[in-house]
Amino acid sequence: MELFYRVTLHEIVADALMLVEEKELSSKHALERIFRKVEGKDKEKARGIAHAYVFEIEKWRAKIDFIINSVLKGSRIEDLDLYLANLLRIGVFEMKFKGVNPAIATDSVVRVVKEKFDLTRAKFANAILREAEKFNVERALKKLKEKDRLEWLSVRFSHPRWYVEYIVNLLGYDEAVRLLLSNLRPQRYYVRVNTLKADIEKVKKYLEENGVRVSYTPVDDVLKVLKYEIPITRLEWYKKGYFVIQDLASAYVAHVLSPEPGERVLDLAAAPGSKTFHAAALMENKGMIVAVDYSYDRLMKMRERMKRLGVKNVKLVHADGQSFIDKERFDKVILDAPCSSSGTYRQFPEVKWRFDEGKIERVISVQRNMLLNAYRNLRNGGEMTYSTCSVRVDENEENVIFALDRGFELVEYEYSWGDRGFLEIGDKVFRAWTHRHDCNSFFIAKLAKS
Ligand SMILES: C[S@@+](CC[C@H](N)C(=O)[O-])C[C@H]1O[C@@H](n2cnc3c(N)ncnc32)[C@H](O)[C@@H]1O
Repeated sequence: MELFYRVTLHEIVADALMLVEEKELSSKHALERIFRKVEGKDKEKARGIAHAYVFEIEKWRAKIDFIINSVLKGSRIEDLDLYLANLLRIGVFEMKFKGVNPAIATDSVVRVVKEKFDLTRAKFANAILREAEKFNVERALKKLKEKDRLEWLSVRFSHPRWYVEYIVNLLGYDEAVRLLLSNLRPQRYYVRVNTLKADIEKVKKYLEENGVRVSYTPVDDVLKVLKYEIPITRLEWYKKGYFVIQDLASAYVAHVLSPEPGERVLDLAAAPGSKTFHAAALMENKGMIVAVDYSYDRLMKMRERMKRLGVKNVKLVHADGQSFIDKERFDKVILDAPCSSSGTYRQFPEVKWRFDEGKIERVISVQRNMLLNAYRNLRNGGEMTYSTCSVRVDENEENVIFALDRGFELVEYEYSWGDRGFLEIGDKVFRAWTHRHDCNSFFIAKLAKS
């Protein structure tokens, strides 16, 4: 007997939005998980369409919620059942952002609400979506701009209010707007050549022969992807591990650390391994890297990638980077700390909605504990990089000043690109910005234990 279970695009997207919110998965991973159970010749196409929905809904969530909250009477979207709220978001997204006929968008959502909930809530969804259809968002935004300009920025460019306030204070209004706009642009891809298996000229030639237009970057082993015909991850050399997709600023960290073949290196927050594997390549697979991460699932992903890339000098350790101590000290440490991820909004729009001030305070405390633990694990004279993909000064420069007060020294590294940072150490640290450097907003400092 052959059984078919029919689900609509709306159910898949609503399920994925739930996973993104409740399990904190990226939109890509949420859909990978859902589509593991799906077979059929159109599987890849369906996943692509669903991914575009989830990604765009996460990107525009503040504006979508603004519309829904404007038509909800006496409650807010946050008070609704999360699944129902996500279905309403899909409906509003389709009619206001995607140009789907509002009657069709409403009907598709109401059907799912009727099946998953009951008639009362189906009527409720129908009423809300009919009101949303009539709602003049541009007029409402104009009024909002006159009343509260920061709230307007937050809704118009769909970013959390705390982030808008933060970057307006840090960069000034005009530049903050440029950053907000750049976070909404399509993702820029970079390719890091795996020098254990190939060199940059060969990879460049191979990519060009396969319809990928690339250019050189300020980072020696990284190419910028300008145009491509099919997704780069489908190419044979990607599958063989000749290159990886890695953000430009992220691929600068290992160069700043500059580990030598034969050294002992510790990575205290290693998974999924981009910087560990880059360090392994610079070390020509000689010496040893101990790669620690708190997430078992992410370490398992790292193990798979390690095989593909031909990395042989990495030992994976499932442990807490705040307290892990090895028997022997290390020559170098990579601390690419867990952070608010506020520099990665272009790549992962869903992280915009994950952090509030309380959560950021907790992550800063973990970052500081990890810095102290990096110190314990380093030999005297050993060096480390501290990096984050956060735009915030408290996760970056302030943490470096905290480290300097506890025995570290700041290494005067000659950064070959990017910007310098803030506060009294500003001229000795590295910053990249999405709007200025076309990569994730990023921070790097190089420290030494004297
Ligand atoms: C920014 S990501 C690291 C990315 C990685 N360095 C790379 O380049 O691919 C931060 C990592 O820290 C891990 N993490 C969070 N808290 C941790 C802890 N207390 N100890 C060790 N790892 C932790 C997360 O699981 C996550 O993999």
